[in-house]
Amino acid sequence: MLLGIETSCDETSAAIVETVPDNSYVILRSNSTSTSMELHAKTGGIIPEVAARNQIAYILPVIDDSLQKANISLDQVDAIAITYGPGLIGSLLVGVETAKTIALVLDKPLIPVNHLFGHLYANWIETQTHKFTPIPFPAIGLIVSGGHTDLIHIESHKKITWLGGTKDDAAGEAFDKIGRAMGFAYPAGPAIESLAKTGDPHAFKLPRPIMYDKTYDFSFSGLKTAAMRELQKEPLSEKRKRDLSRATQDAIADVLVYKTLKAAEEFGVKSIILGGGVSANQTLKDVFLQKMDSHISFFSPPNMLCTDNAAMIAAAANFYPKEEDPLTITADPELYFD
Ligand code: KG4
Ligand code: ZN
Repeated sequence: MLLGIETSCDETSAAIVETVPDNSYVILRSNSTSTSMELHAKTGGIIPEVAARNQIAYILPVIDDSLQKANISLDQVDAIAITYGPGLIGSLLVGVETAKTIALVLDKPLIPVNHLFGHLYANWIETQTHKFTPIPFPAIGLIVSGGHTDLIHIESHKKITWLGGTKDDAAGEAFDKIGRAMGFAYPAGPAIESLAKTGDPHAFKLPRPIMYDKTYDFSFSGLKTAAMRELQKEPLSEKRKRDLSRATQDAIADVLVYKTLKAAEEFGVKSIILGGGVSANQTLKDVFLQKMDSHISFFSPPNMLCTDNAAMIAAAANFYPKEEDPLTITADPELYFD
């Protein structure tokens, strides 16, 4: 039984996952997440100090709740998995220092986990409604969240290579910033997805930045600027909100799918794996399924495991059980792929 703890951004999350004899996936026993989202919705974005202060209040109740829901005590936990980066320094510290204290007091192994790996390993979690099916390697992983847009080549759990990432805004950040300009609360991705359903796909023509270049990098700040310019042209009506939502979602999905499929073809992979908050977007998943070669398998986590959660951190620890001395683990806001 693993206890995962995740506090890299505004969520405070603890989860219990059960390991299986061959360690090929984990089973979700509980996932308890508290968020200060309502406070950030009012300010239109995350204020790091506000996030961290709330996390100090939430962390112990959230851990208690995850243990209660799984019907176990802390003594029954075999190891603790903790996100040590990347993320906001104040937020990371709350989780890291709490996990270190529990590990030292109860003499439990502590496993530091990279948050980005966590998003990928959300695909190796079985839940009551989502049965795990083995993921064939090699694979291309696309991590799309509010802070990251990265393409990676996964030959095996031991061999993961970063192919490219965003040069400026992340895909989720583009959703959030364009949504904010239309008056939507943070995070705006879900609102844009919902309005886009009735938007006219031809009303706006937004750019697909660096879609056809030779790299596996992304750039979304030009798309954001183009959308802002459109917004300034005429007063904002409900129809314009729906149409711009549609155009934004189409442009982001086009770029993400095009570059991921290019990598899938170049590396001759058997699977494509999504992770991160934006992978909750159904249109993005539909476009993948429409455009993908039918012999490639497609995986994305259940929606509740796309956005930040501690279960994915415990799942990653199952595959990288590298225990470290609690006294030497430090939060690393700039952590990236090795
Ligand atoms: O993975 P996550 O919870 O946090 C980070 O590590 O950044 O991702 C949050 C991001 C936000 O930018 C949010 O707008 C986006 O995921 N998001 C979505 C959807 N649900 C969440 N974007 C598009 N469509 C969605 N349905
Ligand atoms: Zn995340």
